[in-house]
Amino acid sequence: MHVLLATSELNPYSKTGGLADMVSALARALAGTGLRVSVVTPLYRGMTESHPGIEPTSWRWAFPMGENLVEGRFHCQKPSPNLTLWFVDQAGFFDRPGVYGEGGRDYADNAARFIFLSRAALILARHLPEPPKVLHCHDWQTGLIPILARHAQLQTGWTQAPRTIFTIHNLAFQGSFPISSWGLTGLPSDWLHLESALHFERVNFLKAGLTQSQAITTVSPTYAQEILTPEYGCGLEGLLLKRYNDLSGILNGVDHEEWSPGSDPALPAPFTAEDPAGKAVCKAALQRELGLPENPALPLFANISRLTDQKGSALIVQTLRGLLDAGEALQFALLGSGERSLENAFRDLSKRFPDQVAARIGFDPALSHRIEAGADFYLMPSRFEPCGLNQLYSLRYGAIPIVRATGGLQDSVIDPRENAAQATGIKFIPSTEAALKKAILKALALWKEPAWLQHIRHNGMTADFSWEKQAAEYVALYESVCRE
Ligand code: ADP
Ligand code: GLC
Repeated sequence: MHVLLATSELNPYSKTGGLADMVSALARALAGTGLRVSVVTPLYRGMTESHPGIEPTSWRWAFPMGENLVEGRFHCQKPSPNLTLWFVDQAGFFDRPGVYGEGGRDYADNAARFIFLSRAALILARHLPEPPKVLHCHDWQTGLIPILARHAQLQTGWTQAPRTIFTIHNLAFQGSFPISSWGLTGLPSDWLHLESALHFERVNFLKAGLTQSQAITTVSPTYAQEILTPEYGCGLEGLLLKRYNDLSGILNGVDHEEWSPGSDPALPAPFTAEDPAGKAVCKAALQRELGLPENPALPLFANISRLTDQKGSALIVQTLRGLLDAGEALQFALLGSGERSLENAFRDLSKRFPDQVAARIGFDPALSHRIEAGADFYLMPSRFEPCGLNQLYSLRYGAIPIVRATGGLQDSVIDPRENAAQATGIKFIPSTEAALKKAILKALALWKEPAWLQHIRHNGMTADFSWEKQAAEYVALYESVCRE
């Protein structure tokens, strides 16, 4: 079977968050099962220089979009015999400093940019020598693909049209644009209605994916249930309830090629569950790197994140401020960027407690590995979390996760109260300072019980979140939609 994945981010070529990690790891894991896999994604600025393996092809095309005829060209890389990556080259749209925007602002023409990507995906689906049987779309940027495929099928009698699957990575981002953007899709106006992309008098790309795909998935079983409620459904819970039978949750995995502390080139010393000594070396090196006192006796907490309401960033600042004011002996390292007020709040915290708090504002993948390796505990108090990858990386790197019990955090961390023998972390439920504080105090108590701490850490480091297992679930889904 041949599957085409469509995504706006692909690690290591482009990344703003977990979407990039997920699609890249899924594609390789699927190819590893013997499937033929293609991925289509934009060619953003600098990618051909940083990845010389990407080669231009002579495959060019043009779409009328509004008043303009917009030209595109595919570039291609084949990392393994079963895996082909197609990069959409349209300099006007993608040769820019940012992926979605700059200086905290989205690009004004994001509708056009991702309609272009979606239409390019259709070209591949129609004209690749081996047409894909499944077109697997990820997040709002590719949400229009199922409609484009359905329209092409009805319009032109495209008998080999692929089945479409839409994966929700985050329901809070829907790609909502003025009605005028519909003209850029090349679709007739009568295809814009309440059962397709029309939502509150706007074009909603995510809704298009949800209404027109054959199957819908999201990235954890718990989030698949949560989004059926008004609290988490972002206004689309009614529609999701209607499609209940087509909706499933498949937890993301960890890409072991990138995230293995025993062979991670970013770390000063390797370590494993069976031979953890190198973790102390990583912790000391991290304390030095961050300008914190090098002290093995102090528990080091960490967080690596987009700084935004979803991630509970403000809750971290408030709770730590309270604990540090009360004189608790701990250290905290932050790596993140996002809302200015939150960036400043972390900077202020580190100025107030320079020996206990280090805040690195920015995006730094290598440092994120060193932080996971050096930290003792990892804070993830997300208000909602479709899957979350950093708690998985933390488990594998021996940084015990402290998480709010929601979405993928609920599905991937085991609290001692759930199962003491298999416990891997600490969970709390309310999104409040009191609840996070209590969870951190539990961690501080655990810190004083080395045998118990080792037990929990070892459980986490040996828990199996490999992509091989998860990819098999996607293969089963692909096979089932093809049988329908
Ligand atoms: P989300 O996609 O919602 O941001 P995830 O936990 O799924 O959350 O994935 C976030 C990914 O982005 C992880 O790989 C994480 O390490 C990475 N990341 C987030 N912020 C930074 C940062 N400031 N520097 C480096 N990597 C980061
Ligand atoms: C989204 C979600 C995150 C998830 C990631 C990859 O960005 O916010 O929870 O892990 O997608 O699926």
